[in-house]
Amino acid sequence: MPEAKKEIKSIAVLTSGGDSPGMNCAIRSVVRTAISEGLDVYGIKRGYSGLLEGAIEKMDASSVGNIMQRGGTMLQTSRCKEFHEAETRKEAANILRRKAIDALVVIGGNGSYQGAALLNEEHGIPVVGIPGTIDNDISGTDYTVGFDTAVQTAVEAVDKIRDTAHSHARTFIVEVMGRKSPAIALHVGVCTGAENVVFPSKDVDYDEIISDIKRGAKRGKNSSIVVVAEGEVPGLAYNIQENLYQKHKLKSHVCILGHIQRGGRPSPIDRFLSSRMGFEAVKGLVEGNYPSATAYRKGEVELVPLKECLGKKTEHMPQAYQLVKTLSI
Ligand code: F6P
Repeated sequence: MPEAKKEIKSIAVLTSGGDSPGMNCAIRSVVRTAISEGLDVYGIKRGYSGLLEGAIEKMDASSVGNIMQRGGTMLQTSRCKEFHEAETRKEAANILRRKAIDALVVIGGNGSYQGAALLNEEHGIPVVGIPGTIDNDISGTDYTVGFDTAVQTAVEAVDKIRDTAHSHARTFIVEVMGRKSPAIALHVGVCTGAENVVFPSKDVDYDEIISDIKRGAKRGKNSSIVVVAEGEVPGLAYNIQENLYQKHKLKSHVCILGHIQRGGRPSPIDRFLSSRMGFEAVKGLVEGNYPSATAYRKGEVELVPLKECLGKKTEHMPQAYQLVKTLSI
């Protein structure tokens, strides 16, 4: 018979990895749902780094007042390399036990989920993940918290760039975020009518970019937009600009959107998604449904086994690239 899960009386929440708009709504939802369930709830500052430093504070309903419209994360965040070490995770589990914290909600991306899974596997800490990253690259969920806002921010920026592109008859190469993920680039490409999108996992095809731009020019279009996911090192757009000139004598302008995509007021979709997810995460802990993660699938938020959400998404709207090409003729 499987061992009965122990009753959870006290939980903690942390945000980890890159911040994303909507994380604050998720924190608010976790804190207030936990209070409604009669649990004690703690906020851990600066992700796993803060956990190791014991930066843990009791929260009440007012601790999360007036935050849902704000970007970033009130708990702050970090990328904690030390958490890759088994000894460090042991120390983290001990800190949680010493503080009488029974369970943990981790809001973050792939690395954060890995840390949570190991805390559970090695030390039996009940964990639930909430997918928080602008990259939309977590397996098992159709959307992550922050993606919608980041795409909206980038689309608004490209719309503005398009005004200048048209007025001056220019080609712009716009670099968006996504070290490994093509999701923002492909969505922005579709939503702004870009001529071409460059993204990780697909080699840059200069001949194709040129022929896409020329096709538009042939029917009288005087400007064009190429959207580029930054890839491993931000600044890839400059490389592409240089190559387009060297290979085809095409002059272009570069605009790198950078971290403005990570900040700002979360969109209503991100607010709703994160509020739903925070609620389900706490319910999951109370009902013994862990280790798990909240996921948005086919229009509903559900709890799924955490192992289904470990690892990056490999496929992103396979039809999106085709859509960009078809609609920009
Ligand atoms: O949060 C995800 C992400 O924005 C990636 O798209 C990007 O490549 C990376 O984080 C950059 O993160 P940072 O500037 O925090 O190192």
